[in-house]
Amino acid sequence: MKRIVLVLLLIAANSFASDIIKLKKGVSFNHLGHQSEKVGLCSACHVETEGTPGKIPGLGKEWAHKTCIECHDIFEKGPTKCNGCHIS
Ligand code: HEC
Ligand code: HEC
Ligand code: HEC
Repeated sequence: MKRIVLVLLLIAANSFASDIIKLKKGVSFNHLGHQSEKVGLCSACHVETEGTPGKIPGLGKEWAHKTCIECHDIFEKGPTKCNGCHIS
């Protein structure tokens, strides 16, 4: 019984862990992976208005390069080179 629960938990954790958001130009990233305690205030990327954040107004090259790369620089983690994000 315990083992079954554990397996189910692992499956659940795994499906959460692969909440991938695809952006343009071959960029995709792990949304949930960016919501860990160390990284992830929603407001690092979302401008909070009311309720649940969702679409990001102004999402595009300028926003992304500033927001994404700046934080990767600070953490010294995550891609900062073009082909680290633009996979295809
Ligand atoms: C590292 C940046 C980043 C962080 C941190 C982040 N998000 Fe997002 N989120 C995005 C991007 C990029 C999109 C896609 C936006 C678009 O398409 O306009 C998105 C989309 C969403 C969506 C739209 C539905 C979906 O899944 O496509 C929801 C809801 C959402 N985020 C909630 C959250 C919440 C809640 C948090 C904090 C717990 C959070 N996000 C943290 C970048 C982030
Ligand atoms: C608030 C800080 C922060 C922001 C903003 C941020 N990242 Fe990251 N990102 C990280 C950190 C830290 C890691 C390394 C995670 C690890 O190794 O545990 C990472 C890892 C990654 C990775 C490699 C692992 C994965 O998730 O696939 C990609 C790709 C990535 N980020 C893309 C993006 C993109 C695209 C954006 C902008 C939409 C973005 N990041 C915004 C902090 C951030
Ligand atoms: C941390 C991840 C990341 C890195 C590093 C990065 N980019 Fe981007 N780039 C993005 C994201 C995210 C977008 C916006 C995608 C969207 O609008 O959905 C973007 C958008 C673009 C666009 C605009 C595409 C369009 O049609 O609007 C170009 C061109 C581009 N990047 C080139 C580059 C070049 C050249 C480099 C290296 C000097 C680079 N990028 C490095 C994540 C990154």
